[in-house]
This record gives sequence, C-alpha cells and structure tokens, in this order.
Amino acid sequence: MDKARQRLEHLWRRGRDFLGTELAIMGGAMSWISERHLVAAISNGGGFGVLACGSMSPELLAEEIHATQERTSKPFGVNLITLHPELDALIDVCGEMQVGHIVLAGGLPSGSAIKRAKDTGAKVVCFAPALVAAKKLLRSGVDALVIEGTEAGGHIGSVATSVLAQEILPVVDQVPVFVAGGIGRGEAMLSYLEMGAAGCQLGTRFVCATECIAHPNFKQSFIKAAARDAVPSVQVDPQFPVIPVRALTNAATRKFVLFQMDVIEKVRSSQLDQKEAQLQIEHYWAGALRRAVIDGDIENGSLMAGQSVGMVTREQSTAEILGELLDQALAALAARDESRSTMAQC
Ligand SMILES: Cc1cc2nc3c(=O)[nH]c(=O)nc-3n(C[C@H](O)[C@H](O)[C@H](O)COP(=O)(O)O)c2cc1C
Repeated sequence: MDKARQRLEHLWRRGRDFLGTELAIMGGAMSWISERHLVAAISNGGGFGVLACGSMSPELLAEEIHATQERTSKPFGVNLITLHPELDALIDVCGEMQVGHIVLAGGLPSGSAIKRAKDTGAKVVCFAPALVAAKKLLRSGVDALVIEGTEAGGHIGSVATSVLAQEILPVVDQVPVFVAGGIGRGEAMLSYLEMGAAGCQLGTRFVCATECIAHPNFKQSFIKAAARDAVPSVQVDPQFPVIPVRALTNAATRKFVLFQMDVIEKVRSSQLDQKEAQLQIEHYWAGALRRAVIDGDIENGSLMAGQSVGMVTREQSTAEILGELLDQALAALAARDESRSTMAQC
C-alpha cells in the first residue's frame, strides 16, 4: 500500500470502524432523495448511505428499509426526525428490522428517544450544533456526532463548518465526530480528518448521482447553480421567525418575502392574529421539497441545496463521485509527500 493510502487509512480508521465501511463518507439523509436507490448505491460504493424517513409512516419506513436491504448487503443507516409524531414507533421499526445505525435529526433528541434507539441495539448518531449540545448528547449516551455547518443544504444552523470543527474536534474525542456542510472535494474532507474528524457527511454532492431519483429539472438546477445561489431563507421580521433553510433562489423564495410582508401587514391592521400569521408563514413551505424533487416544479418548490452545489457540474454515478473524493484526498496526501522529499533533497 502506498504512503498516501496508508495515511488516509490511519486518519479515517475510527470512522470506518464505526460505520463498518470501506470509506468514512456518509451520504447525508435528504428527504425524498435518500431513498432505497441512492442509499444502496452509496453503501455499495463503499460509503455509508442513510435513508431519510422524513414524514413517512412506520409502515412506509419498514417498506423502504426492506427495499434497501434487498439492494445492498452493506451497512446503511436510517435518519429519523425527532419532531415526528410517531418517533417511538419509527425507532421500533428500525429495531425490528435490525438497522445498525439510527441518526436522530431535526433538533436535540430527548434522553428517552436516545435510550429507546440504543435499546434496539443500533448505534445512535446525533447532530451537535454547538459544543454545549455535544456535551449534553455525550451524557445521554450517543455513539457518534455529526457537526453540520451553515454551508449545508436544507435546515441549517448559523455557525460555519470550519468554526464548528475548531470548537468541537479538539475537545470531543469520546465518540467519533463526522463533519458536514460545504464539503465538495476530497481535499476538504482530508483537512477535517486531519483536524480530528472520524469522517465526513455530504448531501448536495450526491443529488446529481445517476442512481438518485430526483427529477431531471431538480438535477439541472443543481448543475447550473453556483455557490452564491444557495442562500438561507429570508426572515422579514424577527417577531415572525422563519426556520432557516438553505436553498437555491427561485420564484418561491422571492414570493416568500412578499408573502411574509403581506401576512405581517394583516397583523398590523388587526385582520389576523400573531399566532395564525406565524402558522401561515410556517405552512408556506409545506410539501415544497417534494414538489421540486419529485414533481420537478423548480419554480414553486423548494430547491434545498448547500453551497457546495457549485462543485456539482454533471450527472455522475455514485461510485464515480465516491472515487473522485477518494482520489482527491489521496492526491493531496501524495503531493505533500512529494514536496517533503523535494525539500529533503535541497
Ligand atoms: C435536499 C436536501 C434535503 C435534506 N434533508 C435532510 C433531512 O431530511 N434530514 C437531515 O437530517 N438532513 C437533511 N439534509 C442535510 C443532509 O443530510 C446533509 O447533512 C447536508 O446536505 C450536508 O451538507 P452539504 O449539503 O453541504 O453536503 C438535507 C440536505 C439537502 C440538500
């Protein structure tokens, strides 16, 4: 084995052991996108696919897990949203179907949800948006953490991946920590591994995989977009909070600003109470991701995407994407060895 490969093996051994994979690369769960085909393709390619449960019922989740198990014998995980009204039943489905890793997302999970997930025998992974949250999750017994910066696609926090990595990686070594948000190339992946990450999680980069079922219009939007097109949702008035989501700008994001202004004006003129206004703002995006991903309505749907979208330039097989990430990390390591030996000769 060459030196670069040996070094990489060493850097991500903990992540690979934890996931049971060849590569410590997680395919971040994406609602409507991370279903049986993409998840199996990522796992079969040596990475770690994660099924997105989203708003699925326990029955649908069981079907999706079964279909994924039929397509891969490699490990994969299931991502559950903690706010799901049937969270306990979903955890039980994962247990019955012997899912090896449960990812609890969408807010800090309760200690009881973590315990229930662990009791199934699965390894439990949670998102830590800050160091205090990471410490709390460690006390609750999580087996690994994902730290996801604001560059990511979908629901986001406010802190950059690079800052979260500096705050958390040097301090947390009790469990493997995976870094997510804004990673598009192997060199970036390598830099987080060198800072102490066990592995990385990527979402945006996998949307244009040939195995991904996203509508061709959705994929074309990604291929055309630059990093600056993936922006957080705009909040007009702090009294009417908006859940921050990073997505490509389109007619829906532009209308959302006017919609908020209209609703707020109705509250000011007593045509609407504050609670109803807030509900209307929250409901604006209901069903919008599905509209874009499945129906292909890229103007009126939500084009959730991370800033790494600028590095998505064509449709590629999942194996090719994983291979590219690996090659870039190895080439960066090999270049360093070469420059070291040149220096030694001087
Ligand atoms: C279209 C889309 C949908 C997503 N849906 C979810 C989700 O349902 N649950 C979740 O935990 N994360 C979700 N994410 C976040 C990803 O799992 C992943 O952490 C993120 O994409 C990583 O950052 P990147 O986009 O910069 O690669 C979504 C991301 C995208 C782009």
